Amino acid sequence: MAVGLKDTPERYGRVSRALHWSMAALILWQFLGVAAESIAEKSALADAFKTTHSPFGALIFVLLLARGGWALLSRSLRRPHGTDLLGRAARAGHLALYALMAIVPALALLRAYGSGRGLNAFGLWQVIPSTGTRIDWMVAPASALHGPLAWALLVLVGGHVAMAIFHDAVLRDRTIARMAG
Ligand code: HEM
Ligand code: HEM
Repeated sequence: MAVGLKDTPERYGRVSRALHWSMAALILWQFLGVAAESIAEKSALADAFKTTHSPFGALIFVLLLARGGWALLSRSLRRPHGTDLLGRAARAGHLALYALMAIVPALALLRAYGSGRGLNAFGLWQVIPSTGTRIDWMVAPASALHGPLAWALLVLVGGHVAMAIFHDAVLRDRTIARMAG
């Protein structure tokens, strides 16, 4: 059966799927980049990642706003999480994923403005203006938390994927097909 634009209790629709998978790819690219940088700092691959990290991070933030809005609009269409332990854990896990997908790039964007350097995407678009003035309170939160919270996001994503596989392989409730089938 063709998948429609909107969500239903049986499966996520095309909008939710496009947002889920494009953001998953972008977020994993961010981590691959950081790994490439630490393994081979001077490689062409690490350079490619370095130029994309900030603009892609900004894109993740914008997509997250759209995704949050779409999730709110689709709330009554999606199957509610169960009230058992697994259902409550899934709900809390998804909320935590949303929170970190927002906070990790938001702090970095605030730092980009506060550093006075701003953010330029590929020499084409000045996403955040370069003011030349440093504002310490805008820089400090990301300097303390951007890295640690990003790693926490990666751990949570690992748990999320493990749970999706557990649902499919052990509970056999076709959970992955709801987002991918
Ligand atoms: C969801 C989006 C993002 C993810 C998952 C992410 C992930 C990461 C990770 C894992 C690190 C390495 C931390 C470490 O060395 O321990 C890092 C560093 C960095 N990121 Fe991001 N990032 C994101 C968005 C952004 C954005 C939007 C910007 C710029 C506006 C940015 C700028 C930086 C900078 C400058 C560093 C090096 C300094 C630091 O560790 O804070 N990132 N990021
Ligand atoms: C950076 C990577 C990822 C993030 C941040 C993420 C985040 C989320 C979030 C927040 C939801 C709740 C639905 C929504 O509002 O979109 C969700 C659902 C889902 N994700 Fe992911 N996801 C990621 C990667 C993956 C991967 C690699 C898989 C593959 C197994 C996967 C499988 C699923 C499934 C099956 C659902 C539907 C669960 C349900 O029935 O409610 N996700 N994901």
